[in-house]
Amino acid sequence: MGIHFTLNGRPVDVEPAEGETLLKVLRERCGVTSVKDGCSPQGQCGCCLALVGGRAVTTCATPAQKADGKEILTLEGLPAEERERLARSFAACAGLQCGYCTPGLAMRAYSLAEKTPCPSRDEIAKGIDVHLCRCTGYVKIIDAIDLYARARRGEAAPEPDTRGRVGDRLVRYQGEDMTLGMRPYVADLKRPGMLHGALTLAAHARARVLRIDTARARALPGVVAVATAADVPGERWYGLILRDWPGLVAVGEEVRCVGDFLAAIAAVDERTARAAAALVEVEYEVLEPITTVEAALAPGAPKVNPTHDNALSHTRIRRGDTDAAFAASAHVVEGTWTTQRIEHLFLEPECALAEPLPDGKLRLYTQGQGIFDDRRQVAAFLGVDEEQVEVELVPNGGAFGGKEDMSVQAHAALLCHLTQRPVRVRLDREESIRVHPKRHPLTMRYKVGCDAEGRLTAVEAEMVGDTGAYASVGAKVLERAAGHACGPYRVPNVKVDATAVTTNNPPCGAMRGFGANQAHFAMGACMDLLAAKVGLDGWEMRWRNAVEVGDTFASGQVFEKSVGLKETLLAVKEAYYAARAAGRAVGIDCGIKNSGIGNGASEWGKARLVVEADGTVSLYNGYTEMGQGLLTVLVQCAVEVTGLDPAIFRPKVDSTFALGCGQTTGSRATLFGGRAVKSAAEKLRAALDQGKRLPDLVGEVFAADLVIDDTTAPGKEHLKGGKIKTHTAFGFATQVVVLDAEGRVDKVVAAHDVGRAINPALCEGQVEGAVHMGLGYALTEDLPCDEQGWPLTYKLREIGVLRARDMPEVEVILVEDPEPEGPFGAKGVGEIGLVPTASAVAGALEAFDGIRRYSLPMKDSPASRACSVGRIRAQERAAKAAT
Ligand code: FES
Ligand code: FES
Repeated sequence: MGIHFTLNGRPVDVEPAEGETLLKVLRERCGVTSVKDGCSPQGQCGCCLALVGGRAVTTCATPAQKADGKEILTLEGLPAEERERLARSFAACAGLQCGYCTPGLAMRAYSLAEKTPCPSRDEIAKGIDVHLCRCTGYVKIIDAIDLYARARRGEAAPEPDTRGRVGDRLVRYQGEDMTLGMRPYVADLKRPGMLHGALTLAAHARARVLRIDTARARALPGVVAVATAADVPGERWYGLILRDWPGLVAVGEEVRCVGDFLAAIAAVDERTARAAAALVEVEYEVLEPITTVEAALAPGAPKVNPTHDNALSHTRIRRGDTDAAFAASAHVVEGTWTTQRIEHLFLEPECALAEPLPDGKLRLYTQGQGIFDDRRQVAAFLGVDEEQVEVELVPNGGAFGGKEDMSVQAHAALLCHLTQRPVRVRLDREESIRVHPKRHPLTMRYKVGCDAEGRLTAVEAEMVGDTGAYASVGAKVLERAAGHACGPYRVPNVKVDATAVTTNNPPCGAMRGFGANQAHFAMGACMDLLAAKVGLDGWEMRWRNAVEVGDTFASGQVFEKSVGLKETLLAVKEAYYAARAAGRAVGIDCGIKNSGIGNGASEWGKARLVVEADGTVSLYNGYTEMGQGLLTVLVQCAVEVTGLDPAIFRPKVDSTFALGCGQTTGSRATLFGGRAVKSAAEKLRAALDQGKRLPDLVGEVFAADLVIDDTTAPGKEHLKGGKIKTHTAFGFATQVVVLDAEGRVDKVVAAHDVGRAINPALCEGQVEGAVHMGLGYALTEDLPCDEQGWPLTYKLREIGVLRARDMPEVEVILVEDPEPEGPFGAKGVGEIGLVPTASAVAGALEAFDGIRRYSLPMKDSPASRACSVGRIRAQERAAKAAT
């Protein structure tokens, strides 16, 4: 039945399909891009917010029919001065990172301020309860909404910072457009004649595929192409480290997890494509899935993946004599700690668009974390040279490591190749959760000793991680956990074994802090347990053991520079002791996180500055923007050297130049990308210093290619320069967690050594967002799977990401101990913000109720119970049934 409504003052008549949501109508039929799809049809993220009949509603959870006769207002329809106020407020406060949640929040800000012109910060936090932001930790979002409300009341607003030198709080590149939903994400891109893709996913975590029948799917009107493994012209198996992941599973092979793909459909619209994907008939021989590491390692266990053993990797560190050290120690503590599987929950689900070019090439628009890795794998999948695939990054709506592996890029490219038409493929939220790798659940047995004064003598750790069905970067995660096993503490004797184990659970791979977070949860606890035995408080215990220049990392690397750990301890000292003196329960932990992958890997920083005829300077680099603010930081590096206006720089990430740097991972994009841009900018500066002006330099390319290949692989005897160098640089941090009288987290003080804050606002935002993620990790977030390898929930609230009202006050203190190998002294800050958080929370909880908790998330704690996020109902039902 047709409906009629008014959209931003303009009459609209549409005939929605059965069950079509208002979000689909707005996006697909009306071309409104400020409403985003983050969780459709759950209504649990707020990305799709619009005003319907004056009420703020999540349009993904609203049937289109309900809009009949209503007035609908989206950001596009707001008066120009409101749009400008919103855009400037969010940009000025750094109230956005990836920006995917931001248009929904901007619409909420408008609605809130209409009703409550003078909202308090608490009212704002409650007012945005429907909204999820995975990046910011909400602190700067609340600042932005507060500023916006003030501006509406006529208060003078601070001017956004547009200076752009190193150390300035330059507003995020394209931040105002992102706030208003005007900067497109991949799912917002459209092309004439574009087809829509959908995928048929596995019905079991482990089963042999006996037959795939696509006849019914092909017969559905509107379907243009159906592809199975037989249609892949090139190398069907891909992977970042091992090629162990089939883009489409073939007849005769096994599906290995519930995120495997069996068929890809291209159709005239997404609805038809999804209907066709559901019509693909797959006959299976169902096999018993292996869903525990014990089952996977049992003698005679079947191989989960034919390309490697179930014990995927083993990392071994030996330094000194731990047995002798324990025997001589005054105190020894032991225990087993477990951490949970964590969903990245980036707000923008995976999406890719491929289009044929007139010269026979294919252009891929990707949101992946390494566009040149995407290009390499897609070209191999299609069986063509890499030059036949042009690739362009569309800065994504969050990634956190979860977009390092391929998701739908190859399928979009294959369907484009088969149809010679543009094809866009998008996962919905449930598919996204089934498909992309997660944070590893780890079991860690620790034994740690110290002398009578609390000085650490030895650490032994055995770590086992469930890495799921595919290798991804699981081996690297366990390697990183092993390397960070001692935290940032001086330990003379070390024995660590870390094993990644393949199972039929969803794959696990990179996630912010990969491996370091888990290790710190166990090691931080051991520090607290030893402190109690010695009679020290948490701060003093850490001060006595904090590494300095000249001390040694677990791997044997001697720290030679930029170790700001003690400065971070000093920075929180007053807050720590003041809270204790006030009778509060307080926890503390220190963190260390590598910046740069290291471990023997070759790494690169590559940049090109191209002077354009229109007076702009294109800034090409090989690392990706995923909300962390890299493009803004790179512009600042260029501005600092050249002295040019930041507004003339146009950062770009595409294959115009061969700038393959690998994934944006390991907190290295600023470190290496920034160095490359600085170096290229010095060449441009030199040309300007010779008296040339930009118009004289049109068409010139100023290039820099850096290779960083001086790190040492774990366990390798070959030591470059006679010494071990595991990583290029390290970030350091100390965090203090203070509880209130009811045991809720009241405040987090986070002191971070960032080397040099190129953009302090972005640095603070990284830490605030990471603390938010760390508190969720500590208290509420979980993605358990059942015995058949299925996630127990896909609901955003049940997964447990904290809402704004659950966030405590976060005080960020930036410490600058310059890193000589970083641009202007900077080092990476993307990951370390949540490395010590869970351990500090555990310490605070023990101080509150005397219970030492050994498993994450600490859902039994008062701090967790006070949070507004939901519980996993399927898990609760199963627990009830079991009792
Ligand atoms: S997309 Fe509608 S609330 Fe998430
Ligand atoms: S800025 Fe909110 S989800 Fe990324």
